[in-house]
Amino acid sequence: MSRTLAIIKPDAVASGKAGSILAHLEREGFTVLALRMTRLTREQAGEFYGVHRERPFYPELVEFMTSGAAIPIALERHDAVARLREVIGSTDPAEAAEGTIRKLYAESKGRNAIHASDSDENAANEIAFFFASSEVVANAIQPR
Ligand code: RTP
Ligand code: MG
Repeated sequence: MSRTLAIIKPDAVASGKAGSILAHLEREGFTVLALRMTRLTREQAGEFYGVHRERPFYPELVEFMTSGAAIPIALERHDAVARLREVIGSTDPAEAAEGTIRKLYAESKGRNAIHASDSDENAANEIAFFFASSEVVANAIQPR
């Protein structure tokens, strides 16, 4: 088992798609370890996407991520990081494969419904960004 972090982004929460997206993740075999609804501050959004600080879309990205409530979710599954990237689809929904979350629910490349961690190392850091380890570990699947 491994872990990853998803965030249902403000566009999807505001348009009432959060429940459908969570159901989609569960159908794809992900187990929810921790989840909350929160509105990111500019500081939080800026730090979370800090790797993109020099990119032209960064101000718009921070603006969007702070525009309304978002739902960070710590998820568990076999091969969680790679499988979640497959399930969400390409960054731009116009390029995302049929049946992926971004194809189904995203509005545009900027307002694209969901975030997913891109490596095991980033997944661990991003889960810790939103959740205390005690909130996550207690819900992990126990080895039999
Ligand atoms: P994420 O980190 O949110 O899972 O998205 P990603 O890996 O698919 O894409 P990334 O390159 O990490 O970009 C982060 C987010 O920035 C916004 N973006 N807008 N307008 C643009 O050209 C543009 N490019 C990126 C998107 O919200 C993207 O998800
Ligand atoms: Mg990314």
